[in-house]
Amino acid sequence: MRARFVAGNWKMNGSLRANMGLLDALKAGLKKSENLEYAVCAPFPYLGQVSAALSGSAIAWGAQNISEHDAGAYTGEVSGAMLKEFGCRFAIVGHSERRALYGEDDARVAAKFIAAKHAGLTPILCVGETLEQRERGETDSVVGRQLDAVVAAAGAAALAGAVLAYEPVWAIGTGRNATPQQAQEVHVFARARLAARDKALAGLTILYGGSVKPGNAKDLFAMPDIDGGLIGGASLVAEDFIAICAAARR
Ligand code: 13P
Repeated sequence: MRARFVAGNWKMNGSLRANMGLLDALKAGLKKSENLEYAVCAPFPYLGQVSAALSGSAIAWGAQNISEHDAGAYTGEVSGAMLKEFGCRFAIVGHSERRALYGEDDARVAAKFIAAKHAGLTPILCVGETLEQRERGETDSVVGRQLDAVVAAAGAAALAGAVLAYEPVWAIGTGRNATPQQAQEVHVFARARLAARDKALAGLTILYGGSVKPGNAKDLFAMPDIDGGLIGGASLVAEDFIAICAAARR
C-alpha cells in the first residue's frame, strides 16, 4: 500500500502567536498513525518555532522553497543544508505561485529538486496546469513536460522517495476544487508517465492540492491514485486540517 501523506502549506501567513495556537491544536489532534504522515510547511522565519513546537510530535515540517545553490552570494536565499541542519524533512519545489510570480521555470524547479535531494530533504514537487491550458486540452502535455524536466535533470531514480503534488492552478485558493475524477485522471497520467521511466515510481505518493476542505477531502482521497493532499487555506485552521487528515486515513 502506498504511504498516505497530508501536508499543510501555510504560504505567507502566520505570526508567532497565531502559529503557537495552531501548532498546539495540531499536536493535540494529530497522533502517530500507521501509513499516514502529516507535515506543515511554514515561512522561513517560523521554521525554528515550528521545529521546537513539533519536536517529539507526530507532525513533520518543511520549507516552502529552497535555493538551487549550495552556498554563496545569493542574497535572500536559503540552502538545503541550512534547512537540514535543524531538522527540516520536506521542501516544496515548483509551487505554481513560485512558477507564476517568481519566474521559476522547469529548469530552475529541477535544480531546486536536485538541491533538496542533495541536502537529504524530501522534495514535494508541484505540477499543474492553468485554466487556459486545461480548456485547450493541454493538461497532460503541461504536466508531462513539468515531470519530464525533473526526470531529465535529476534522473528517474531521484524521484523515488520524493512526493509529487498535482495542483491545478485554477483550483488553488479559488474554492473550486478539481472533481475527484478530474484529479484521479491526472494522477493516473502522472504515475504512468513516471513508471514508464522507472517501474518503482508506480509507488510514488501523489497528493492533490487545490481548495481541499473538510467537506471534499473524503471524496478526493477515496480515489485510488490520490494518496493525500497539499493543503493551503484550510491548513491554517486547526480543526479543518485535522479533519482533512482524518479523511486521509484508510
Ligand atoms: P488552497 O488549499 O488554499 O487552494 O491552496 C492549495 C495550495 O496551493 C497548496 O500548496
